[in-house]
Amino acid sequence: MKLRRLAALALCGVMALSALPAGALAARREKMNADDMDIPAILEDTQAGGTVNVYHWWTAGGEKDAIESVVDGFKDVYGKIKAKSNAIPGGAGGAMVMKVKVLQQAGKSPETFQAHPGQEIEPYLNSDLLLSLDQVWEYADLSARALPGIETLCTASDGSKYIVPIGIHKTNVIFYNIHVFEKYGVAIPDHENITWDEFFSICDQLAAAMPDGEYPLDLGDRKGWPACQVFEDIMLGTDPQIYEDFINGNYSVEDVTAVLSTYARMMDYVAPDHSSRDWYEASGQVVAGTYAMQIMGAWMQPLLTSMGQVYGEDYGVFTFPGTDGWFGMCIDGFVVSNDSADVGSGVRWAYNVSTPEVQAAFSALKESISPYSDTPDDTYCALTLKFKNELTAEGTKVYPSFTHGTALPWSASTSLQTQIQEFATSTDHDAAYFANKIVNILKEAGVKGAWNLVD
Ligand code: BGC
Repeated sequence: MKLRRLAALALCGVMALSALPAGALAARREKMNADDMDIPAILEDTQAGGTVNVYHWWTAGGEKDAIESVVDGFKDVYGKIKAKSNAIPGGAGGAMVMKVKVLQQAGKSPETFQAHPGQEIEPYLNSDLLLSLDQVWEYADLSARALPGIETLCTASDGSKYIVPIGIHKTNVIFYNIHVFEKYGVAIPDHENITWDEFFSICDQLAAAMPDGEYPLDLGDRKGWPACQVFEDIMLGTDPQIYEDFINGNYSVEDVTAVLSTYARMMDYVAPDHSSRDWYEASGQVVAGTYAMQIMGAWMQPLLTSMGQVYGEDYGVFTFPGTDGWFGMCIDGFVVSNDSADVGSGVRWAYNVSTPEVQAAFSALKESISPYSDTPDDTYCALTLKFKNELTAEGTKVYPSFTHGTALPWSASTSLQTQIQEFATSTDHDAAYFANKIVNILKEAGVKGAWNLVD
């Protein structure tokens, strides 16, 4: 696995978390500083009471069970602390950022909330709203336990860690329904790393064979992010250098036009009402056979499992065309507010998600790759183990997702999601027109990164 950053996270447009009304300021609690806290003593105090409000966005089948198992299991370690699950639906974290902002302004910061490392958490740091978890990393020996590259991605621009990772998913995946291919006599390639030509040939064959109302592909982009994730996959699959330049803010209208032209070609095969469904509803329709394929991160696996689908029998995966040898990286983790009602319980939660016991239970249900090397391989189902082996293989290159918070600031990422969803739902898919709009978003957000993915 290879991923280097030349410098600490680059600084980009900052969400104005600090613009608080006066009343809200009065309601805010005092901020705790980790340097003044004896974190090991807090973690070892298993008799402490309290409440930890856990905010997360895992509401789809499979992922919901995974987080609820961690919430339920918390009492096995900290029996006197009440862990409360608060689900903010939407996926990918966009709704979470807004929700947390409102809670913080009302003086009701959650003890802990789900986040992706990287740019997504920088605005909270700029407003001094997160507790440093350096002592948790030290206590739980996370630097030694983390898979290569993970610590770097979890280190903030000031050199500290504010997040404890819980799971990893690959983003450059196409899921397909084996029975649909069989039903319409479309041969399934004997390799997962299909080329662009193979992909479009499969789309052509399916489109020719499927009746009205059934389609080769669906996006499920009622929330904009699934459309944006397809955009980032196409971008990497077009040319990794374009991706690197894009997240570094070296945008080029021509490059983005090239990416969107491929996207426009792909839209010929997508169900026209794609934006009327959420990603998990689209997955349900893939299972039902209405759509043959869905481009989605590997978190679609537990959803399929929850619908009784078996990898290799009912569904298969392709590596997104052009991205063979690359692993699109989406890391989930938990951060801790420094001004909640029970900061200590927040710290205990963050620590707890990293323990080998929780990692084994959570990774099995979420079908995610554990960020820690001591999680045994027999934890994983066949597909997750395959992805884990890809991630850790010598020579695999990693690219950080910008749809899932790591590589672009939210100010850019949320506007991008809106524009790309608009592009996907427009009738003419005008690549040059939308490329200009997209480049302007990056310009306005002042995106300036220092990622080195390609060399
Ligand atoms: C998260 C995944 C999650 C998906 C859909 C992504 O942002 O990283 O863990 O399953 O959103 O909710």
